[in-house]
Amino acid sequence: MKRFLNVLAVLLVVGAALYFFLNRTDKSPGEAPVLAGAAPDAALLVRGEYLTKAADCIACHTVAGKGQPFAGGVPFVLPFGTIYSSNITADPATGIGGWSDDQFVRAVHDGVRADGQRLYPAFPYTSYTALSRNDVLAIKAYLFSLPKVNQPNKEADLGFPFNQRWAMGFWNAAFFKSSRFESDASKPLAWNQGKYLATALGHCAECHTPRNFAFAMKAGDNLAGESIQGWRAYNITSDAKNGIGAWTDAELAAYLGTGHADGRGSASGPMGEAVEHSLQHLKPEDTAALVSYLRTVPAKAGKDPIEIDAKPPWAVAASAAAPAANTAEGHEQGLRLFAAACASCHQWNGQGQQTSFAALLGTRGVNDAGGANVTQMILQGVNMRVHDREVYMPAFGKAYTDTEVAALANYVIAQFGNKQATVTPEFVASQRTR
Ligand code: HEC
Ligand code: HEC
Ligand code: HEC
Repeated sequence: MKRFLNVLAVLLVVGAALYFFLNRTDKSPGEAPVLAGAAPDAALLVRGEYLTKAADCIACHTVAGKGQPFAGGVPFVLPFGTIYSSNITADPATGIGGWSDDQFVRAVHDGVRADGQRLYPAFPYTSYTALSRNDVLAIKAYLFSLPKVNQPNKEADLGFPFNQRWAMGFWNAAFFKSSRFESDASKPLAWNQGKYLATALGHCAECHTPRNFAFAMKAGDNLAGESIQGWRAYNITSDAKNGIGAWTDAELAAYLGTGHADGRGSASGPMGEAVEHSLQHLKPEDTAALVSYLRTVPAKAGKDPIEIDAKPPWAVAASAAAPAANTAEGHEQGLRLFAAACASCHQWNGQGQQTSFAALLGTRGVNDAGGANVTQMILQGVNMRVHDREVYMPAFGKAYTDTEVAALANYVIAQFGNKQATVTPEFVASQRTR
């Protein structure tokens, strides 16, 4: 069945490719706005560093913990196999030291390697295509100023037909348009800067926009929510109930700039990484610009909307130090585990001890009956540095069995989200391999 679907997908892609190939138009380059943090007169390397952070190149090109910066080798597990990010240091033998400006620009704008081979869109050239040539060259100058690392690239491990890089040409013809960002003169400069940050640099849509059968982003559902690496990247359209329409500007800026907004939640998993490596480094003016753009993204209900219960009765009845007497019926195992491993930091009323980062009330995660992000939190924990703060929660994936993790997740969602969650040991097992 899976094989049949794969073949079907390829046929559809090829058909769509021919259609679009015959109808495509090439756009001439437009003008991108200059970001507050990347003023044109700032020294090239300073600009390049800022833009490289805003585009979060390091997240995918550095193996967490032990990897050399930008030396690649990070695995990307796709439905049809595994590919690895490339060494993008200036090492001439194993990195991109021998690439000309035009070759680098072509890779970032069009997804084509120096040798003419196609790159897979796990490298989000689908978003970076909107970068101005000047900004791409500033990024190159910065990368080339860093230490060269000699580390050969790992070969992708893909089955036929997905190992045929040339076939990506059809995918590109169907789903990809090489085009630069064009400012909208009818909108304020800050809005244009914010849109450039969200689309060309921050590639929010690569995680937050639903994808179609061929893994291309659905433009009509911009930022309406999608799943990635076992996490839900929530709906962040301006929808007041299902998106971030009800968040204040200050809450959004705090979440993006520090990874936490009181009463809304904390960024973990792939979003935690985006905050740690990228968004926390934005100048406040640029964060404000990003927020002003997000406000205008058309509201969408999205798939599997999550309703937030800000006053879950079990948590409201609890004190910081103890659960209310009659709560947690049917959740005895989860409650016992929570008492042993979690209550010291999170407290029974979900307010969070010492740091408001550990507050659980009102977050999307604990209100999602599907439990994807709560399960990932328990399995992986968090260990990141934002500004001068260590944000730490231990990983419990090794300490607990699938049954125990499921019991904990279901209890947490009942206690703090007032929902009957559906996390099974089988689901936990599948989440471990994401
Ligand atoms: C979401 C993950 C991701 C991000 C973010 C990302 N890359 Fe990559 N990049 C990849 C992957 C994966 C590959 C390998 C793709 C392939 O083999 O087809 C790659 C390949 C490349 C290549 C091709 C190198 C070669 O030798 O073929 C270049 C150049 C590159 N990336 C530059 C960048 C730059 C510059 C940025 C930031 C502006 C960036 N990447 C951000 C995942 C990413
Ligand atoms: C690598 C994937 C990825 C990228 C890139 C990404 N996000 Fe996220 N985002 C997520 C995930 C996953 C979550 C859920 C995090 C959690 O539950 O801790 C999330 C959560 C959020 C939330 C909180 C929503 C809520 O209801 O709690 C906001 C706001 C957000 N992202 C904004 C952005 C913006 C703006 C960008 C681009 C500048 C962006 N994200 C880029 C994956 C991503
Ligand atoms: C050492 C303190 C500590 C312990 C112990 C701990 N946590 Fe956490 N937890 C945190 C912190 C800090 C955060 C915020 C992480 C972030 O910013 O991404 C967090 C976040 C979470 C979240 C995500 C909240 C959101 O915003 O979506 C969940 C769910 C969670 N913890 C559940 C648990 C469970 C279940 C346990 C016990 C198995 C546990 N935690 C044990 C400190 C802790």
